[in-house]
Order: sequence, then C-alpha cells, then structure tokens
Amino acid sequence: MVKGLSQEILEAMAHVKARNDFEYKQTGKKKTYFIETYGCQMNEHDSEKISWLLENMGYELTDNKEDSDFIIYNTCLVRENAELKVYGQLGALKDLKRRKPELILAVCGCMMQREEARNVILSKYKHVDIIFGTSNIHKLPQLINRFNQTNETVVDVVEDNKEIIDDIEVLEANRKYSFKAFVNIMYGCNNFCSYCIVPYTRGRERSREPKNIIREIEELAAKGYKEVTLLGQNVNSYGKTLDYDFSFAKLLEEVNKIDGIERIRFMTSHPKDLSDELIMAMAKLDKVCEHLHLPVQSGSNRILKAMNRKYTKEDYLLLIEKLRKAVPDIAISTDIIVGFPGETEEDFNETLDLVEKVRYDSAFTFLYSIREGTRAAKMEEQVPDEIKHERFQRLLDVLYPIFYENNLKYKDRVVEVLVEEVSKNNEKVLSGRSRTGKLIHFEGDKDLIGKLIDVKITTVKTFTLEGHII
Ligand code: SAH
Ligand code: SF4
Ligand code: F3S
Repeated sequence: MVKGLSQEILEAMAHVKARNDFEYKQTGKKKTYFIETYGCQMNEHDSEKISWLLENMGYELTDNKEDSDFIIYNTCLVRENAELKVYGQLGALKDLKRRKPELILAVCGCMMQREEARNVILSKYKHVDIIFGTSNIHKLPQLINRFNQTNETVVDVVEDNKEIIDDIEVLEANRKYSFKAFVNIMYGCNNFCSYCIVPYTRGRERSREPKNIIREIEELAAKGYKEVTLLGQNVNSYGKTLDYDFSFAKLLEEVNKIDGIERIRFMTSHPKDLSDELIMAMAKLDKVCEHLHLPVQSGSNRILKAMNRKYTKEDYLLLIEKLRKAVPDIAISTDIIVGFPGETEEDFNETLDLVEKVRYDSAFTFLYSIREGTRAAKMEEQVPDEIKHERFQRLLDVLYPIFYENNLKYKDRVVEVLVEEVSKNNEKVLSGRSRTGKLIHFEGDKDLIGKLIDVKITTVKTFTLEGHII
C-alpha cells in the first residue's frame, strides 16, 4: 500500500492508527476528520494528500465539524480576506474545543509559513494543537503522535524551502474525483511579483523530475483517470532547476503519449515565459486542451513594471495573437488586479482596453490587497477602497458581455464533455466541462460521471452553457 515513505513516517502512521482503531473498538464510533481548504489548486491538492494520510491512520471524512475528532484548516495568505476567514473560523471553535477537549485542531498551509500569522495563532488561538507549513505535510503523523504524547501545541515549519522533500514526492493523494487529477510538476516561485506573498510561503522554484511526474500520471491512467491538470505557480519555467535540458513543452509531449489520458490541462502560465515552443506544442499535441489561463494582472505598462511582471501590454497582446493563430478555438482566461498602488484612471483604462482587445472567456478579478512583507505593501499612493470598488464594478461591466459573446459561438455546436457531477439543485441534471473549460449542464444519468460524451449546446448564458446529449 505505502511505497517509498520513510520509516519514521510509517511508524508514526501505525501508532496513530493503532490508537484510533483501539478507541473505535471501545466506542464503536470511527474517528472522523473535517478539512477545510482555502486558496489555490496547490492547496486543494495538498489537502488531498493530507486526507490520504488521515484516512490511512483510521480517520474517516465527515462534513459535520461539531461531531469530528480532528479538524484541519489548510490556509491561504494571498489576500487579506482569505486570512480573516480562517481567524473567524478558529475563533468560533473555541467553544467546541472547551466542550470536547479530546478534539484535535490543526492549522497548516501558506499562512503558517509566516511567523506573524503563527504568532497570532499561538497567542490568540491557544486552542490550536498542531501547526505546520507547506513543506511538512508528510510529517502530520509524527505531529499527531507528538501531540498525543505531550498534549502541548506542536509547531513544525520549514521557513525557506529550497528542495523537494522525498517524502512529499511519494506521498499519495485521496483525490476528490476518480477521473480527473491534479499533479504537481513544480513547487515554489521565483518571480516575486511585487504584490504577491506566494514566493514567501512556498519557497524557491523547484521542478520535479520528469520521470516521477510521468510515473505518477501512468499510474493515474491505469486507475482510469482521463484528465490531468499539471500544477505549478509558473509552469512555463518548468525544468529550469533540473540538471539537464527539459522544457515544459517537452513534458507535455511526454504526457501526451500516455495511453488512457485524454485531456491535459495546466496552470498557471506566466506570460513572460510563454515560449513559441509551448504554443506549438499546444497546437500539435492532441490531448492538450484548447484553454489557456494567462494572468495579465493589468493592462498598463507602468503598473506592469511596478508589479515586476516583466512584459508589456504589447508583448501580451502579441502572445494572444500567436495563440489564436496556432490554436484557433482556444479559450483564454486571466487574473486581473484592480487598484494596485499608484493605479490611475488612465492606467485602469489601459486594463479595460486590453480586456476589450483580448476578449477573454473568463477572468478572476481581485481587489488589490496589501500583503505585509511584499514590495508593493511599502509603496505610497495606495488606492482608496471606494475607487478600487468602483473600478472593480466597471471592469466586470466590460467583462461579462464579452464572456456572453464568446459563449454565443457555442450555440448549436456539439462539444465533447467530461461528465463531472450531478447538479446540486436538480438530480436529473449533470454538469461537466468542454475541452475549452466551459461548464455545461445537461440532463442525463449519473452513470455517465467520468465519461466523455458529446453534448449539443442549446442555451447560452454568461457563465454556463446548457445542452442535451446526442
Ligand atoms: N502563480 C500564479 C497565481 C498566484 S496567485 C500566477 O502568477 O498567475 C493567484 C492570483 O491572485 C494572481 O494571479 C493575482 O491576480 C492574485 N493576487 C496575488 N496577490 C494579490 C494581492 N496582493 N492582491 C490581490 N490579488 C492578488
Ligand atoms: Fe505570485 Fe507572481 Fe509567483 Fe504568480 S508568478 S505566484 S503572482 S510571484
Ligand atoms: Fe494561497 Fe498559498 Fe495558493 S497563498 S493562492 S494557497 S500558494
């Protein structure tokens, strides 16, 4: 079952499991865990690994927090909102922990990489039992063990992660779906965009060995997985930390050869490293989906420079042109920050102009949020909140009609859909995604989940499409 994990971890897992199994025999009630994940796909995938560890130590997943024996928050620090939510949740658990002292409460993820955040927890949320960082996931069994033995708060964080840790490399994941999977191809980030905290929470950029990635995906294919999403903060610079020449395009080519895998996605791409080789690979490789998430952040060259993004609006538009030429049906999505320090009306209008020119299929839009420790946090001329909000609304007013217009192109077309789940509101309705990443609803039987089917689009909306199976 467990291959490659170090002896210490296996032993710690066995200890925790024996204890949980013993209590299960005594009480007749299985130990349960509750997990909440904030932030990006990296964190989601880390949570899948944490779930795997917990389930191999005798815990069962529950969505009933009050009733669980182990509660864990996998946190994000990218914007203030994400941070405040976690503090809110932890505060609300004080009472539960008082009533149920045997409950273990753990906090991990990006917030815990910051000393300031750890200190807040240690001083104001003393009912937290276990704290660990983004490079210590594999140590969770040891940390639970230590807590069980000492009943004292356990803290384990590596501040400046520079290497790939062998145990994390071989850690398995309890994946949320049985047909599509996240696969890490690299960790960390070296770009230091001036607004962003990620390089401080995830450490330096490190690429996994291609052979390990390929092996993982081959195993997924053997288990019936059809789609993989390759994860990295900047996948376009994949391979730069390897001792030999191996580009992201080359990796895609290798993954494209794996039988059983039908769709390949990846995120995130940084425009500064989007090579012609990669564009050609996207055009040529049949399994690579016709969708690219290419965060632009701003349309103003002055702001892009202050953000340390290392491309101009013109460079970006040229990339879009090349992409559309090479992959005619490509859907393009992006991230945009509104209200970066010093952003003037003129700068913002450049963003609106860029959005009009690119004509995105979808976009994640964010209000700039000050992150202590980043360069932008120290910049003068922070934009007042009312102006940020007003620009944010104007941006959405431009984006939404463009999304709708793009979706209109799908009317009456037949698209291949990977069926993902039953709709939350109507059990006769299924949802799935096209290769271009469009969310599509249609009537069908839940046996179709995990299958690739053809759907004819009948109704077009701004954020979703509707159709029927043919
Ligand atoms: N590595 C990825 C994304 C990382 S964070 C990339 O470079 O694209 C995801 C998004 O959060 C970013 O693209 C950016 O738009 C947004 N973001 C990051 N820091 C932010 C901040 N301080 N305020 C507001 N949005 C931020
Ligand atoms: Fe943050 Fe920039 Fe790295 Fe993305 S590329 S994680 S925005 S520093
Ligand atoms: Fe958040 Fe960490 Fe991801 S800060 S966006 S969870 S890398």
